[in-house]
Amino acid sequence: MEKTKVAIVGLGTVGAGVARLLLEHGDRTARHAGRTLWLEKAVVRDLKKSRGYDLPSGVITTDLNEVLKNPDIQVVAQLVGGLEPARTIMLQLLEAGKDVVTANKALLAEHGPELFDRARALGRCIAFEAAVAGGIPIITNVSQCFSANQVLSLHGILNGTSNFIVSQMDEQGWSYDAALKEAQRLGFAEADPAMDVDGTDAAQKLAILAHLAFGARIRWNQIPRVGIDSLDAIDLRFAKELGYRIKLIAAAQLTSAGLELSVSPTLIRIGNPLAEVRANYNAIRVVGDAVGDLFFHGQGAGQMPTASAVVADMIDTAVGRAPITFRTLELWSNRESPVSIRPDDDLPGRYYMRFQVADQPGVMAKLTAILGEQKLSIASIIQHEPLPRVQGSSVQLVIMTHEASEGAARTAVERIMSLSVVSGDSVRMRVME
Ligand code: HSE
Repeated sequence: MEKTKVAIVGLGTVGAGVARLLLEHGDRTARHAGRTLWLEKAVVRDLKKSRGYDLPSGVITTDLNEVLKNPDIQVVAQLVGGLEPARTIMLQLLEAGKDVVTANKALLAEHGPELFDRARALGRCIAFEAAVAGGIPIITNVSQCFSANQVLSLHGILNGTSNFIVSQMDEQGWSYDAALKEAQRLGFAEADPAMDVDGTDAAQKLAILAHLAFGARIRWNQIPRVGIDSLDAIDLRFAKELGYRIKLIAAAQLTSAGLELSVSPTLIRIGNPLAEVRANYNAIRVVGDAVGDLFFHGQGAGQMPTASAVVADMIDTAVGRAPITFRTLELWSNRESPVSIRPDDDLPGRYYMRFQVADQPGVMAKLTAILGEQKLSIASIIQHEPLPRVQGSSVQLVIMTHEASEGAARTAVERIMSLSVVSGDSVRMRVME
């Protein structure tokens, strides 16, 4: 059987999973590729580091030149995280004539235009299914299977670590710190978990999807984003009382005024399939004008789900499918963006707001007057009787609004926070039915 020699650069969690699939399940890859994907080299930084997996002798090396200078190696899985040296290695691989597969969404979100231009100029290809939503084949779907559609909206749970933390806090009563530690132990979190929990990782993935689905030329750091790092368990309880769960939602919605993009903790009505996405699972709901409503669900983080997407890309590259897709996609090309990005302040939505207020006469009237001035209509209010029943102490007040603009909701919260009867921090979250 024909043999395609491949290599891995970076043998961390995902890299070790890729090695395992290639070495232990060569029969599967051979069946699907019609050729053997032969792991020739795996490049690591530290030979002594334990990886819980032994590679055949002669495969593992610390010298990238053993890949760059070996013309027989055609496809390389570049699985080094972060921006540098990942960017330099990627360019070196392309210059050396290799087609590259990567799971590094931060690298693509930051340096996509440069890397894709270089690959195009050199006649090489970059495949990156694993960069968004791990094992869910969302890149292939959005970039190829919806070609006959105008995508109208895309709502995703794109960060497995955040979803794991929120699910464990909500369903098991875990603390934030305990849930984060477990997500790190299970290999879901980035090397710097701040990027998972502050919304960066989800915004980077959303920027890639918005590019593919809408042609939007947006940098990830232009997307308004809030993470789950300041989420309070009390809001999970109030949300449940109101019939919702809180999830970190990455949203892209096409409107007549442009494309709305955001990443934020959002109340999702229980019964909406996004509200049922648990643990490290990711999900993406896509609406296309011809195909209608589609829902993708699966493990978006973790060793084997991500390795599954990487190996599928290596097969696609080896058989020549990925290079054709790469050429036709014109990703990060100089083509002008066909959509404008709608400003944050215009985004319409319903809001959940929580304030800590003094429990005394006239407080509610002051708050509702401000909401009225901003043309925010109240849908429901929760205030529980304080225990012990001491009048004048402070209580939590939760307000659900009808639809309003982001700008009006923000102004209302700022003005309410300046009242002397309001103390502590406020919370404002979007609501999805
Ligand atoms: N750290 C990411 C997550 C996985 O938790 O979803 C890789 O994208």
